Amino acid sequence: MRILFLGDVVGRSGREAVLAALPDLRQRLGIDLAVVNAENASHGFGLAPDMAQSLFAAGADAITLGNHSWDRREIIPYIAAEPRLLRPLNFPPGTPGAGSVVVTLADGRRALVASAMGRLFMDALDCPFRGTAVELSRHRLGVTVAAIVIDFHGEASSEKMSFGHSFDGQVSLVVGTHTHIPSADHQILAGGTAYQSDAGMCGDYDSVIGMAKQGAAAKFWQKMPGERLQPAEGPATICGLFVETDDASGLARRVEPVRLGGRLSQAMPSV
Ligand SMILES: [Fe+2]
Ligand SMILES: [Fe+2]
Repeated sequence: MRILFLGDVVGRSGREAVLAALPDLRQRLGIDLAVVNAENASHGFGLAPDMAQSLFAAGADAITLGNHSWDRREIIPYIAAEPRLLRPLNFPPGTPGAGSVVVTLADGRRALVASAMGRLFMDALDCPFRGTAVELSRHRLGVTVAAIVIDFHGEASSEKMSFGHSFDGQVSLVVGTHTHIPSADHQILAGGTAYQSDAGMCGDYDSVIGMAKQGAAAKFWQKMPGERLQPAEGPATICGLFVETDDASGLARRVEPVRLGGRLSQAMPSV
């Protein structure tokens, strides 16, 4: 199975780049399953229902969120009715929406997509490790589902690597989100799980993690409340990860970065 994961979509710049490129990327790379983190799509904060609909229409099979899940309140009734939109599974019991979904691909194969959120330098939540273990106890890679993709939304690379190693061999891919900076540690772990500490964002990199740089830097110079951060509006780099799995085992055979457009060095898997 060929999987494309795209990191946090930030603002109009990120949204328009992903909407324009996703159909072509799916075709060019022969993608079977595309997952997009869109927690910053709405002006940097949250995701509006119409934006989720356009990402699905452009080819996202599932959309993940993170700490910005509820910044656009209109998403609360939407997520309750849209199983392909995920918030982290370790939110408290009773939170609207779900943290995982089994997606059925065009050819009938099934894939589990899940979202979990870290706790180091993040909001206090239920344990993402135990929550994910419970979720995975309901599925068997290569048996009940052909692939399992987990978006681990977190700040600290130590927590992300610990999470990756904890589920190595049980899932196809653990990919980090939230820092908005792509890490260069994409690899296949010892047990066969593809891993990258952070996918990076789909947004303008002439910025501070996607937000206009002057306003963001001012928050460090002046320890005073400033103006609300605005997303940077220059050309976006689409950042993500391409993974090819073995259908019999569900484990990874290939993992390669994707960086397209904007300011970052370009990377595109050859298929
Ligand atoms: Fe984000
Ligand atoms: Fe985040």
